[in-house]
Amino acid sequence: MRPFASLNASKANFDDIYLQDDPRGYFSVLGALDYIIPDVAAPVIRQILAARKRRYDTIPTVLDIGCSYGINAAVLRYPLSFRRLRRRYANPDMAALSADDLARLDRNYYAAWPQTGSARFIGLDVSAPAVRYAVSVGLLEEGVVANLETSAPPPHDIERLRRADVILSTGCIGYVTERTFHAVLEEMDHAPWVVSFVLRMFPYDAIAEALARHGLVTERLAGATFVQRRFRDIEEFTRCLGTLEKLGIDTAGLESEGRFQAELFVSRPPADVQAAPLAEIVKVVSGRNRTVGTRYVRVGRGEHTQVLHAPS
Ligand SMILES: C[S@@+](CC[C@H](N)C(=O)[O-])C[C@H]1O[C@@H](n2cnc3c(N)ncnc32)[C@H](O)[C@@H]1O
Repeated sequence: MRPFASLNASKANFDDIYLQDDPRGYFSVLGALDYIIPDVAAPVIRQILAARKRRYDTIPTVLDIGCSYGINAAVLRYPLSFRRLRRRYANPDMAALSADDLARLDRNYYAAWPQTGSARFIGLDVSAPAVRYAVSVGLLEEGVVANLETSAPPPHDIERLRRADVILSTGCIGYVTERTFHAVLEEMDHAPWVVSFVLRMFPYDAIAEALARHGLVTERLAGATFVQRRFRDIEEFTRCLGTLEKLGIDTAGLESEGRFQAELFVSRPPADVQAAPLAEIVKVVSGRNRTVGTRYVRVGRGEHTQVLHAPS
């Protein structure tokens, strides 16, 4: 049996929404389940990208594994959120558009936002339509359509995979295993950082071991979990709690309250870990996404900072 196959059986299957020509179905179905991992992960990923930039002095290229419609790129490259995008796609006037018309509007929509400049993005996904959309609206510079669980990377894509400085995934471990990571790392001629948000029901050991064989040390961020989404129905809830309990994981106060919880694993070369352990580069701010608004913000860096009155 494939690794994770039996664990995956506890989770609801959403394959059809990953395969549409545009992200409306994705936002509608996962939005209704309060899918939120791209939003809760984004502030943490930004800190990791900033740490990577400080250490290597270049803007990193992120390879988003299981990139889907480029949502991580959207929330990391622009001041956007999954929640905000969901509202955009839920608009009834948007529902009437063809996928091509939507892509044309989306290209303009994304181009109209200021960029954070935190990273460049390339994506890997099995879904050709999702990758096509993400590239066509400008969220991804390039995309690779492949299933590295079952086959080697297409030769013409190897150069693309090689460009990655940071390999990111949210909501994708379980669909992908150590095979995908090994396949990407085998092609690389430099050591990337690997940043994975992983549901607690999927043990990360085999992936951490595969990464160790490529010279990377894995740290888990202790004392923090990240909400992925709520359980779809009572069957999914009871199956997943049963799976977690069989793995010896205490669900009290976490999954027992009705939401999937992910943990953060970051793998890096030993010298990078020694220079700045994960706990030093990442701070988790609870409640950041829950307040109505702030009154003041400071923008810019160094001499160029300004204090602004923030509209709420
Ligand atoms: C829950 S979605 C997560 C999408 C995105 N990362 C996010 O958090 O919004 C899972 C994605 O994994 C993709 N996927 C499934 N199997 C995969 C594989 N073997 N290799 C790459 N991507 C895969 C699906 O097509 C889907 O786009």
